[in-house]
Amino acid sequence: MAPARTAGAAVVATVFVSLALSYFICDRRTKSPSNNTQSPSSNKKSSNKKKKGLVDAIGNTPLIRINSLSDATGCEILGKCEFLNPGGSVKDRVAVKIIEEALSSGQLCPGGIVTEGSAGSTAISLATVAPAYGCKCHVVIPDDAAIEKSQIIEALGATVERVRPVSITHKDHFVNIAKRRASEANEFASKHRRKSHLTGGNIEPVNGYRSDGESQNSVFPIDCQGGFFADQFENLANFRAHYEGTGPEIWEQTNGNLDAFVAAAGTGGTLAGVSSFLQEKNPNIKCFLVDPPGSGLFNKVTRGVMYTKQEAEGRRLKNPFDTITEGIGINRITKNFMMAKLDGAFQGSDMEAVEMARFLLKNDGLFLGSSSAMNCVGAVRLAQAIGPGHTIVTILCDSGMRHLSKFYNPQYLSQLGLTPKAHGLEFLG
Ligand SMILES: Cc1ncc(COP(=O)(O)O)c(C=O)c1O
Repeated sequence: MAPARTAGAAVVATVFVSLALSYFICDRRTKSPSNNTQSPSSNKKSSNKKKKGLVDAIGNTPLIRINSLSDATGCEILGKCEFLNPGGSVKDRVAVKIIEEALSSGQLCPGGIVTEGSAGSTAISLATVAPAYGCKCHVVIPDDAAIEKSQIIEALGATVERVRPVSITHKDHFVNIAKRRASEANEFASKHRRKSHLTGGNIEPVNGYRSDGESQNSVFPIDCQGGFFADQFENLANFRAHYEGTGPEIWEQTNGNLDAFVAAAGTGGTLAGVSSFLQEKNPNIKCFLVDPPGSGLFNKVTRGVMYTKQEAEGRRLKNPFDTITEGIGINRITKNFMMAKLDGAFQGSDMEAVEMARFLLKNDGLFLGSSSAMNCVGAVRLAQAIGPGHTIVTILCDSGMRHLSKFYNPQYLSQLGLTPKAHGLEFLG
C-alpha cells in the first residue's frame, strides 16, 4: 500500500505543479501590457495557431533603407513599409486590435457595427477588417478629407457620413457623431430584439420590404447586433497594437541596433506604442515627434504647454489644422499620446512635406502619403541633429495613391503656393 500511496501522491503532486505552472504562465500573459489578444505579428510566429485569413496578412511589414536620405545624411534611415498592409496603412494593425479586444470583452458581437470618426485611414482599415470578424462598419468623416478616402470606404461596404469639420467640443464633431451612432445602434438592436420577441420573430417582408418602418429609415441593417465605438484616439488597444506589433518588429528587424525613432502623431498610438516598447528594450534609444503646422504637440513636448488660450481647440470655430498633411497633428492630448516616451520634437512645414514626397519619388521610387513625407522630414532633421553614423527608424504610413486629389494635385498645391521646386534636400536647410 505504501508504494501505491507514494505513487499516487507523486501523480497528484505532478498534476498540481503543472496546473500551478500553467496558471502562472497564463497569469503572466494576461498581466503583461499586451492584454490577452495576440498581435498580428505574434500570430504569424506560432505555426500551430489557427490561420486567420486576411488578418494574418497584417503586420510584419518590411523595414527598408531609404537610400537617398541615408546617403545624404550619413545615417542609416530606415522606413517601416506600413503602406504594404492589406488595407493600405499602419491603421490595419489598430483596426484588428480594437475589434479583437472588443469581441473578447463582449462589447462587440459578430453582426455588430463598429463606428468610427476618422479622417480616413483608420476608417479604411476598419472597413477592410470588420467583415473578417462578421461585423459591419459605419464611418463619420470630415468633408475636407480627400474624396478618394470616402469612395474607398463605401466601396469596401461600409456606410459613410461626410460632415463639416467643427471643434471637438461641438456635439457634431465627426468623432462625437460616431460615438452617438454606436449608442443608436445599440438602442436599435435592443428595440428590434424586443419587437421580434413580441412578434415571435415574424416581421414579414412585403414586396422586398419589412413592415418595420423604423428599420428601413435607419443607417443600420435590420439584423444589426448593436454598435461599438472604436474610439481610436482614447482606446488604448491602439497603443497596444504598436506596443505588441510595430515596436517588436522594428526591434527584431534591426537586431536591436537602432539609435532613434521619429514619427508624427494623430492619435499618438504609433509614437506611444513604438517608443514605449523600444525604450523598455533599451533606454538609450531616443524617440522624437515631428509635428505639422497647426498642431499643438510640438509646444507640449518642448515647452509643456499645448497652446495659448486663444488657440485652444475648444475655442476654435473652424477646422483647427492649418496643414495639408492628413491624419497627423492635433490640439488635445489623447490617452494614447500620453503613453509616449519622448526625448524631443521637431516641426515640419507643408512645403517641406511636399518637397520630401517629390524627392523620395524621384530618387527612391517611393510614392508616399503626406504623413510619411512628414515623418521623413523628421528623420532628416533628427539625422542633422545627432550627426552621421546613427540608425534612425521612421514609419511609412500609407501610399501616395490615397492623396491624388490634394497632396499630389499640382493645381491644388499651386493655389496654396506649395508647388515643389527643389532639386535636392536644400529645402531642409
Ligand atoms: C495616414 C496616417 N498617417 C499617420 C497617422 C498618425 O498615426 P497615429 O494615429 O498612430 O498617431 C494617421 C492617423 O490617423 C494616418 O491616418
